[in-house]
Amino acid sequence: MKNRLARIFSRDSGKTVMLAIDHGYFEGPAAGLEQVDKSIVPMLDHADALMATRGVLRTSIPPSFTHGVVLRASGGPSVLKDLSNERIAVDVEDALRLNVAGLAVSVYIGAEYETQTVHNMTRLVDLGNRHGIPVLAVTCVTDEAMGDAKYYRMACRICAELGAHFIKTYFVDKDFDSVVAGCPAPVVVAGGAKLPEFEALTMTHRAMQAGAAGMDMGRNIFQSEAPAAMIQAVRAVVHAGETPKKAFELYESLKNDVKMPPIGPRSHARPRASV
Ligand code: 5RP
Repeated sequence: MKNRLARIFSRDSGKTVMLAIDHGYFEGPAAGLEQVDKSIVPMLDHADALMATRGVLRTSIPPSFTHGVVLRASGGPSVLKDLSNERIAVDVEDALRLNVAGLAVSVYIGAEYETQTVHNMTRLVDLGNRHGIPVLAVTCVTDEAMGDAKYYRMACRICAELGAHFIKTYFVDKDFDSVVAGCPAPVVVAGGAKLPEFEALTMTHRAMQAGAAGMDMGRNIFQSEAPAAMIQAVRAVVHAGETPKKAFELYESLKNDVKMPPIGPRSHARPRASV
């Protein structure tokens, strides 16, 4: 368990910058993730850990990637249905074969299938404890509860009480420190919908100041005009405690150096991962 956590959280800072690219499991090819081999693989080295599905891992991530992989382990409904109606979607034996560093499961507090998603998590925690795999509980709240610290505080605490090893939640403008303070397990923060880069770096800084253990960011990195520059700027805030201003200057200075390959017709002739 500790060895796997050490593949997610940096030995030097104790924090993590996870790159979340699992969005396709419920919404199909999200903007920026149409061709993971072209858009994501070139910047993988900047991620402490990658949060992805086993399908993308098998088809698009080189087996030479040795940083932590936090495997999306729940799924079921698409965005066209009630997202809370998820089930566990990965066998723990496959997770072990893939040598993942963690398992991620969504927990929908306040939603129609709340209890089912809590049980998905507790089942995975039991399996994770048996096999030494930490479980990341991804807290989701209803549309009405979004942006209100009270609900994230409750969701994070429920997940920690029921055994999740670390928790992912969303940043809220007011009282986010109370969400972290009320949760005895480490809290990593999702990026949420795409913001201008300076605002995303400011949110990162505020989350870290509030005691977060890192970021698990997706759209604010892979939908950035310069994703590789953005992830390095996020790292500067998370690992080196840089201010948003300094990190944005870093982003600006790196952004012109990095040219992303154009997205074009998919070629299945490229070398495939062996897993
Ligand atoms: C979906 C997830 C995503 O990984 C999460 O939304 C993080 O991505 P973003 O920073 O784009 O919000 O867990 O349930």
